[in-house]
Parts: sequence; C-alpha cells; structure tokens
Amino acid sequence: MNKNFLENYLLEGKTLTIHTYPAPILKQIAKPVTEFNSELHELVKNMLFTMYNAPGIGLAAPQVGASIRMFVLDIWFDREKVTLADGSVEYRLSEFAPMVFCNPVFKNKSGEVIHEEGCLSVPGIYEDVKRSEFVTVEFQDMFGEHLTIEADELLSVCLQHENDHLDGIVFIERLSFLKKNLLEKKFLKQQQKKKQ
Ligand code: CO
Repeated sequence: MNKNFLENYLLEGKTLTIHTYPAPILKQIAKPVTEFNSELHELVKNMLFTMYNAPGIGLAAPQVGASIRMFVLDIWFDREKVTLADGSVEYRLSEFAPMVFCNPVFKNKSGEVIHEEGCLSVPGIYEDVKRSEFVTVEFQDMFGEHLTIEADELLSVCLQHENDHLDGIVFIERLSFLKKNLLEKKFLKQQQKKKQ
C-alpha cells in the first residue's frame, strides 16, 4: 500500500464481521502491533470499508476479530441520502478523511466532556458518556512512523472510545453500574428478538 493511500482514499475493500457485545474478543487486552506489513494494510483497508458502510466514525481491530492495538476513525466524512428514480434509497459517501492509529498511548488527558456515544458492537444503544475533553496521543501510523496528535471535542471522545476497545472496554462499561446493567439487558433483549 502506498503512503498516499489515506489522502486519496477510495471506498474499497470488503465487509468484515463486527463482533457484538458481549463477545469474548471485546473483553481482551489487545497486543501491540509489531509488523507494519501488507497484512496490516489489508486489515486497515477492510476495516475502513466496513466502518464507512456501517456507517460508523470509528472501528477498532478487536471488533472485527483481530486482537491488536490498532483502530481507524473518520469523524469528518459526509453521508448523503439519495432517493433514486425508482423510489429506492441509496447513501453516497464522500469527503473521506481516514486516520489509522497503531499502539496509541495517551500522554495527557484534561478537562471533562459529556458526549452521546454509540458503538458498532452495541448497535441501537446510545448514551451520554463522561470523557476527558483534551487528549494528547502518541501513536504509530500504519507504516510504523511515530506521530503525536492533540485532540478535543468529538475527536478526543472518539480516540478514547476506540482506545478503550484495545483494553477490552466497551462504552457501556464506562457508565454507572445501574445504567450499564439496564442498557446491557435492553441490548441483549434486542439481540434475542433479532435472532428469532
Ligand atoms: Co465502539
């Protein structure tokens, strides 16, 4: 994969299966990325494709069955609903600005922000979560190059949510005990209904 892959991102790849809560892989501590090879790049490509089409703004490797410290995100892309001549509906995605984070380490966290979160592994559940408002994160890109990013607002929230997946934490586990149990029950009931 060439270095301009992210800048000239085209929606291509295949759809990966997203594991849903409470799948055991979502509870594992993921292992560091050590090989920045074509296998990793293929996973990045397919994770971005899966994330955009879901649609979601972030996806961590454990969610698609790879227990490694890597996630992708894009909080900026556009999704336009288009009604075709035959009445069917299509979604057109554009303005991609994908980012890939390998082996992220939070160097600084400050302030407090409450933001409504959702997760592709807990579909249909949305809840306010308290996070740090400002973060500084050191990470490697998909070629192993070391970088640092400072983030606030939605990007900060998204980085913390995705990083939690690498530590085996799903966002509902950041809520009070009572609220978590309530949402967990609601979610499992919904999943049961889907299966029937
Ligand atoms: Co998530």
